[in-house]
Amino acid sequence: MFYEITFSPTGGTKKSADLLSDAWKEKAEIDLMDRKADFTKIFTAEDICLVAVPSFAGRVPAVATERLKQMQGNGAKAILVVVYGNRAYEDTFVDLEDTLKESGFQPVGGAAVVAEHSIFREYAANRPDEKDALQLKEWSQKLKEKAENGGEVSFPGNRPYKPLGAIPMIPRAEICQNCGKCVSRCPVGAISMADPRETDAEKCIVCMACVAECPIQARKVDPAILAGAKSRLQSALEGRKENELFL
Ligand SMILES: Cc1cc2nc3c(=O)[nH]c(=O)nc-3n(C[C@H](O)[C@H](O)[C@H](O)COP(=O)(O)O)c2cc1C
Repeated sequence: MFYEITFSPTGGTKKSADLLSDAWKEKAEIDLMDRKADFTKIFTAEDICLVAVPSFAGRVPAVATERLKQMQGNGAKAILVVVYGNRAYEDTFVDLEDTLKESGFQPVGGAAVVAEHSIFREYAANRPDEKDALQLKEWSQKLKEKAENGGEVSFPGNRPYKPLGAIPMIPRAEICQNCGKCVSRCPVGAISMADPRETDAEKCIVCMACVAECPIQARKVDPAILAGAKSRLQSALEGRKENELFL
């Protein structure tokens, strides 16, 4: 069985995973965003799992790691997909690889894919675009062949990994119609149904799912904080970066 396992707060990771799954006729999907789901899934050595995560500050989002650790790979083949917003993915692959190996998966291939930056939306806007789509569908076939034939693969990154740091960009809303969409979508339960304007800063992972989900675009990061972060990262975010295939 082929599984597409994704953690995709704003849709870029899911879009990339769908393109890279093109070669498989049937797939089962596991959504790591769903805080109410049971992730204690047991796979078999015949299974192939494409696992796609976004890079957050060069690492796998901690909640995605926690949920992947509940799974038992039992020798299932893993295709690692790291999606990033045109800056850099740093240690995301090795972070994901170690988690998957610890859970009993066998990495056989992967891809780094550039997608629209979920905080600074003007960078890599609309990517994966048509050019990416053609490339990723072609790579899907190559990854399928590699997964079926087996064999080692090596990924870039450093151990120990970059330390996980808090990102002080909690989205908040001034106006709100209390529709509760952000409350349901939040992967960590950081938004209260009683008053969705409030976000629990201890729980929030700044993934931007609530910002993308809000039907009236009410949720925003403080513009001054956003401008400061953008000016620090600007030069690293510029220019078109290319996707990479690992076989
Ligand atoms: C908290 C946070 C940290 C991020 N860190 C990085 C990063 O280190 N490098 C990078 O290139 N993009 C970074 N991004 C951009 C995302 O990796 C990219 O937009 C990705 O496509 C988001 O996936 P999604 O659309 O599935 O939510 C970050 C985004 C967020 C929200």
